[in-house]
Amino acid sequence: MRLVLLGPPGAGKGTQAEVLSRSHKIPAISTGDILREKIKDGSEIGKEAKKYVESGALVPDAVVIKMVKERLRSDDARAGFILDGFPRTVAQAEALDKVLNELRITLDAVLYFETSTAVILERLTGRRVCPKCRRNYHIKNIPPKRDNVCDDCGVQLIQRKDDTEDTIRRRLKVYEEETAPLVEYYEGKGSLKRVSGDLDVEELNSIIGKMFKG
Ligand code: AP5
Repeated sequence: MRLVLLGPPGAGKGTQAEVLSRSHKIPAISTGDILREKIKDGSEIGKEAKKYVESGALVPDAVVIKMVKERLRSDDARAGFILDGFPRTVAQAEALDKVLNELRITLDAVLYFETSTAVILERLTGRRVCPKCRRNYHIKNIPPKRDNVCDDCGVQLIQRKDDTEDTIRRRLKVYEEETAPLVEYYEGKGSLKRVSGDLDVEELNSIIGKMFKG
């Protein structure tokens, strides 16, 4: 299975990518997670990316495209992958077309998570993340078993720096301007499939599961 998950911040792309990755035994490739790892490591790319990620702006195309190209060429992506948060601009989509062509593979679909703004704000302000394994929680919708502690790692959960209300609104604006045009781009290629990001995790997962059965 080779999928792109497209949708606004907070649509639930990362959550579904994780579930699909486990059930299909293929990597979920999140450019946001890769960038946050690089920021944590203090690498050169991380230093450059920090100001963009934390303010809700997009990291320059050239940086992200290089990262994804390398990742798609790694052995574990041969059997399939789920791209979460990439592409995010038309230039990134064109670069992805090129690399898929070089690898002689095609996407099964681009899943577009249509999600309302009220749901996005509620989800992102309530999101908590494990700094060790990166598992996502939500204080109300998907709470950990012990208050603010990761079920798997036992470490204290944190709030992402870009999950404040002002930065979320900036990310939504950037999404509308830079990423929303990809809906038309992939519709034109006949690969776009729409799902409702407003649904709860299990319901949405069951709908996606049925789309790719057999
Ligand atoms: P990134 O990490 O990709 O963030 P995003 O796209 O803004 O997406 P989110 O992670 O906020 O939302 P999501 O849709 O994955 O939702 P999630 O499943 O977590 O990017 C961060 C930054 O990195 C960007 O702003 C940019 O600076 C940079 N960047 C990344 N990629 C880039 C690129 N290609 N080009 C340039 N720059 C790039 O869910 C959200 C919350 O809701 C969680 O708490 C979750 O538990 C809960 N939840 C999820 N699904 C449900 C549900 N169905 N019902 C109820 N609650 C739910």
